[in-house]
Amino acid sequence: MIPLNPEIDRKLRMGLIGGGGAAFIGKVHAISATLDNRARLCAGALSSDPQRAKDSASIFGIHEDRAYENVQQLIESELQLDEKDRIDFVSIATPNHTHAEIAQTALKAGFHVICDKPMTNKVEDARELVKTVEQTGKIFALTHNYTGYPMIRQAREIIEAGEIGDILAIRATYLQGWLTTLDESVTASRGTWKSDPVKAGSGSLGDIGTHAYNLLRFVTGLNVNQLAATTESFHPTRRLDDYGLIQLRMDNGALGIITYSQMSHGRLNDFTLEIDGTAGALTWNQEDPNRLVMQRQGAATEIMHRHPAGAYMHELARLATRIPGGHPEGFYEAFANIYRAAYDDIAKNIANGFNPGINTLYPNVYDGLEGVRLIERVQASSEENNAWLDF
Ligand SMILES: NC(=O)c1ccc[n+]([C@@H]2O[C@H](COP(=O)([O-])OP(=O)(O)OC[C@H]3O[C@@H](n4cnc5c(N)ncnc54)[C@H](O)[C@@H]3O)[C@@H](O)[C@H]2O)c1
Repeated sequence: MIPLNPEIDRKLRMGLIGGGGAAFIGKVHAISATLDNRARLCAGALSSDPQRAKDSASIFGIHEDRAYENVQQLIESELQLDEKDRIDFVSIATPNHTHAEIAQTALKAGFHVICDKPMTNKVEDARELVKTVEQTGKIFALTHNYTGYPMIRQAREIIEAGEIGDILAIRATYLQGWLTTLDESVTASRGTWKSDPVKAGSGSLGDIGTHAYNLLRFVTGLNVNQLAATTESFHPTRRLDDYGLIQLRMDNGALGIITYSQMSHGRLNDFTLEIDGTAGALTWNQEDPNRLVMQRQGAATEIMHRHPAGAYMHELARLATRIPGGHPEGFYEAFANIYRAAYDDIAKNIANGFNPGINTLYPNVYDGLEGVRLIERVQASSEENNAWLDF
């Protein structure tokens, strides 16, 4: 049984921002944040529409007294509550252009923050957020949820242990197809902001390209020295990129390539990471996340299953599983693993002011800055016809 937050001996109290109406990821936050019974969703500002924000509260089990019309009201009202009732943290599941201001307001008011990606739309805003996290000493986690999969953590440990030797090449391919049939003239029930350059900041690059970049850094432990990129808008009426190729030169000399697309017919959430090392190669796919494939020239292919009792499982991977092997775990559990790691630090921070620094198991504010810098550098390289740029 996973312990309740031992340092504080109580559940953490959560406020959710976004997620109301037909919204997608806010509901995933609500479920994942409470999966381990270490937090309770107490309050929310669930929509940009004040009435919908209040009306949506009951399906999240939020009492009407703490169903707020907007973020400002949530922060001000929660601050007036007794400390033993007040929320400890907010989860931000709103469109990209709103993240910076909401996160700043919450941190400065004394709340920890779990924020969805990309962290901000502008590099300056991302740098300001880094400063605020450092000044307030609050915990900040970014939900690049793919790093939470047990077999991704297994891949990271395999690489760290030197089992595939030095890394030579990385291929991250993230393919979706939902834009192929998107008619931008029709008002969608959710996500119309994703087609607005001001609100979204970038297209598929920020939406899925940043996940690919974060995942390859998490698994390999490498950083990017240089990149060259080309982005395209293949959709006939779209103003934002929907396809891109990003070539990377890593800091150990390895070559990397990210291909991202939301214009590939039939692809749902087809996200593959492949790594070639001097002694072996690894392959993982998000649609079959409980398996990791290892190959060595001339040897039989090894397929590792997520199996907590498996002798081959590394500790980090084992700790990221909840149920026995053969019982599939997926998106929610991986998402919950980001929360689980952030909760460890939030509880310690509440108990004794713990400051995690720059290396955390969950993606943090520095990783968020990296993602926003990636967007800016990719756009710059593409505008310069695929020029190689220092990163
Ligand atoms: N981690 C992931 O896998 C993942 C997946 C999808 C989306 N996302 C990210 O999550 C964020 C939300 O995406 P989505 O697909 O859920 O969008 P969505 O359009 O489905 O939902 C956004 C919600 O936020 C609300 N909202 C907007 N402005 C608000 C404000 N100022 N205050 C309170 N509520 C507000 C909207 O009313 C809506 O309920 C985006 O940043 C997106 O990039 C992450």
